Amino acid sequence: MLRLHANEHPQGPPAGVAESLHALVPELHRYPSGEGALQAAIAELHDVPLNRVLVGAGSAEIISLAWRVFTGPGRAAFFHEPEFEFYPMLSAQCGTAALTRAWPPEEHLAEYLRQERVGLMALSNPHNPTGAWQPRQAIADLAGRLPDTTVVLNDEAYYDYVDVPDAGPSLKALSELPNMLTTRTFSKIHGLAGLRVGYGVGNARLIGLLRALQTPFSVSSTACSAALAALADQTLVLDRRTRNREQREAMAAALTGRGFEAEPSQANFLYVRPPRGTADWGADLLDRGVRVYPVGTALRVTVGSTAETAVLIAAVDDILTSTQTKSMEEI
Ligand SMILES: Cc1ncc(COP(=O)(O)O)c(C=O)c1O
Repeated sequence: MLRLHANEHPQGPPAGVAESLHALVPELHRYPSGEGALQAAIAELHDVPLNRVLVGAGSAEIISLAWRVFTGPGRAAFFHEPEFEFYPMLSAQCGTAALTRAWPPEEHLAEYLRQERVGLMALSNPHNPTGAWQPRQAIADLAGRLPDTTVVLNDEAYYDYVDVPDAGPSLKALSELPNMLTTRTFSKIHGLAGLRVGYGVGNARLIGLLRALQTPFSVSSTACSAALAALADQTLVLDRRTRNREQREAMAAALTGRGFEAEPSQANFLYVRPPRGTADWGADLLDRGVRVYPVGTALRVTVGSTAETAVLIAAVDDILTSTQTKSMEEI
């Protein structure tokens, strides 16, 4: 089964990761102690003090903590529709009122959020599932128009793939805002989804509130050590970003050439609308061994390797041929 549904990286982790994990084996009977070193490396990367960084078991842990801390009775969660599928799940788990509006963000969003007493406004940027990138300045402006009691969760899980220059505020500048929490992950470009490690950056007060609810030792020693090794290989990150862009463009061209419409994407996936016809695209691709993520009648498809794109396109061609044959038979 070709996994083009979860936005994983097609290659594994950087070479240094395996070495770092081997070195840990004799220490696995100990509780983790590597989190401090990883926290320090992240703080250095973004030029922020240590108390603005929280490492989590995937960025999902930080996002989940944000739901628990900033939403509750009288403090709704807001996100667009569609959005990362974890947001509605968390609202249900926490018994939080979830307010939604259709994507893309509308002009009077800040007014609406103020009026509805929203505790947490969550937004993935690049946006999952469309891949759209909003300049950071727009997110900072939104936070600035909201009271400090409305926290903006700026979920940058796919930031490492963004290849347009953004003159907006740095992550450090965002972390100086009273109501902004940014999350990042090692699951995507660093190829470490299976180890579960990510982080949040925000002002010391917000980070302190999240830390107070975090389960002790939630991030394993293996995850910390692998993430440290991955951070050290920034050349690989740049290389993977370029390769992802090239492959994303090739995939978009191949699909649009076959009647699909593709949204411009800055992530490692494409949001495409299939050509009209009889095919149930998600199911038909699955029958041919390709798993994608259907969003209504659209599809979110991970950018894979060249070989994976070739398998995807062969499956698409097969579906197009068989639906054409079916319609000919009906005539
Ligand atoms: C927008 C977004 N945020 C966060 C995550 C969670 O990533 P992780 O928990 O692996 O860091 C994902 C995973 O696909 C995602 O799509």
